[in-house]
Amino acid sequence: MCGIVGYIGNKEAQDILTAGLKKLEYRGYDSAGVAVYNGERIQVKKTEGRLAALEGMLERQRLPGKVGVGHTRWATHGKPSDHNAHPHVDNTEKIAVVHNGIIENYLPLKEELTSKGHTFVSDTDTEVIAHLLADLYDGDMVTAVQQAVKRLEGAFALAIVTEYEPDRVIAVRQASPLVVGVGNGEHYVASDIPALLPYTRHVYVLEDGEMAVLTKDNVQLLTTDGTPIRRNVQGVKWDVAQAERGGFDHFMQKEIYEQPQAIRDTLGGRIDENGNVDIRAELTFSDRNVCDIDRVHIVACGTASYAGMVGKGLLEQLVRVPVEWDIASEYRYKGPIFTENTLVIVVSQSGETADTLAALREAQRNGARVLAITNVVGSSIAREADDVLYTWAGPEIAVASTKAYTSQLIAFYLIALHFARVRGALPQEQLRALAVQLRQLPEQAERLLAQAGKLREMARKIARHAHVFYIGRGLDYAVSLEGSLKLKEISYIHSEAYAAGELKHGTLALIEEGTPVIALATQRALFGKTLSNVKEVKARGAYVIGLRTEGNGELDSSVDDLLEIPDVHPLLTPPLSVVLLQLLAYYTAVLRGNDVDKPRNLAKSVTVE
Ligand code: F6R
Repeated sequence: MCGIVGYIGNKEAQDILTAGLKKLEYRGYDSAGVAVYNGERIQVKKTEGRLAALEGMLERQRLPGKVGVGHTRWATHGKPSDHNAHPHVDNTEKIAVVHNGIIENYLPLKEELTSKGHTFVSDTDTEVIAHLLADLYDGDMVTAVQQAVKRLEGAFALAIVTEYEPDRVIAVRQASPLVVGVGNGEHYVASDIPALLPYTRHVYVLEDGEMAVLTKDNVQLLTTDGTPIRRNVQGVKWDVAQAERGGFDHFMQKEIYEQPQAIRDTLGGRIDENGNVDIRAELTFSDRNVCDIDRVHIVACGTASYAGMVGKGLLEQLVRVPVEWDIASEYRYKGPIFTENTLVIVVSQSGETADTLAALREAQRNGARVLAITNVVGSSIAREADDVLYTWAGPEIAVASTKAYTSQLIAFYLIALHFARVRGALPQEQLRALAVQLRQLPEQAERLLAQAGKLREMARKIARHAHVFYIGRGLDYAVSLEGSLKLKEISYIHSEAYAAGELKHGTLALIEEGTPVIALATQRALFGKTLSNVKEVKARGAYVIGLRTEGNGELDSSVDDLLEIPDVHPLLTPPLSVVLLQLLAYYTAVLRGNDVDKPRNLAKSVTVE
């Protein structure tokens, strides 16, 4: 996730662009840049670091001009650095492009353009777009953009300014958001509405496969195939703070709703045309190395550790490799045991968690190879790990992790399916069938979000309680731990998760009349056993919310309220179940009047041990 802006009009573009970027910094903040046409040529200024660093540069040397584009970056391909910052230009420096999204086929395009004599100066996927446009331009930039778009695979929102046709800014949307702002003698484009609000409340929201050609006095909307679009201008009623949250009440709520996209982006380009998961291009592992792994340690903190617990189940069941799971703050003090071919997987949204970083160093000191799953390119953990598999969740602002967790789960599916295929651990057909179902998760998660109203009602029933329990078996237990953590950290209700079979060994004593118990029962093979545990708590007067897969009505008469996820393969239930648990925690915290995005005593990134 990055933020892009574009401007054409009578004002100094630099000021409008930097002000717009400031409003979009929540979308990424590892580097920033602008390109402005000064009447003769395009000038670019860009730098690693937050927007303030760019503003400092521009204060020392302004970029005069009334048309330009700007970018604030959340690194995907290529670490945060000056040369990877946007805008990117072609070799003649006549075409400047800013991009939000991921170009999945950039490597073959880069090879093709290099063989034609183009020289690349960054490690980004975006730079291919500038070179591709230079290659295709034949007198009309709109045609060149339309031809280029046909060759690009992935997600992109683009804003382009050129020296060839400096009286227009061209913008394209394909699976990344883009809005056009309509002014009087001036027009704007941006990733999101907050960047436009100081100037206009009249917007066109572009759909996938659409483009806009902005001049000072006109906006032309058309499909990327060239068909003109007629659309009415929309009025925006949100205030600025509301607009920054995309109209949601809290960032956490917004991030819960961003999960289908985060899952889609994290899967993007990692399943090949034959339906096989293939992450070879991103790892330094040879197939031999994958086959040699004889033990895996998964190490992380908090929510990331609970994603790791699901990962343990996936690797054990799909790859049949022994896995140890540890909390990072315990790991390095317990004298972990390494074999010659131990792989250590560390998981961290921020890539900066001190305990996880220390665990990584401990593993490397012992000669283990470390694979990191992280959301932040260029973070300490990303830099120090031997290999990195990035989650493409975009910046997570709410302290309570949601979309980072689901993306971490997806990363584990990718690793497990890739390893299982390379090692021949399961028949290829079985693995492909799972990959097909993985691709359906974004739509299924979207449909679950429509149950929000029901969860708000359930939240009313638990918000006044002092204790809540979560139970489940197998992967349901791992998800229960995450559901329980979500509830306690934002609602401040005491909550515990238990392996359902463990209740009768002590915890059952805590169940009283009305005690809320959230029972996850999505694992077919364990269903009968979980059902017995549900009956045990029900018999002691618990108020039970059951969570099951569609079509399995056996649970219904033993619970008070019911939640349902699609009937997917039992290994694929966690990213769906958790969406409902996140919503339940969210609405409970809202009802209790808590500061949902910044819960007391907590910080987003824990850089002390
Ligand atoms: C809870 C939460 C934390 C983090 C933990 C690790 O909602 O966000 O438990 O998961 O502090 O942080 P990262 O993933 O940045 O290493």
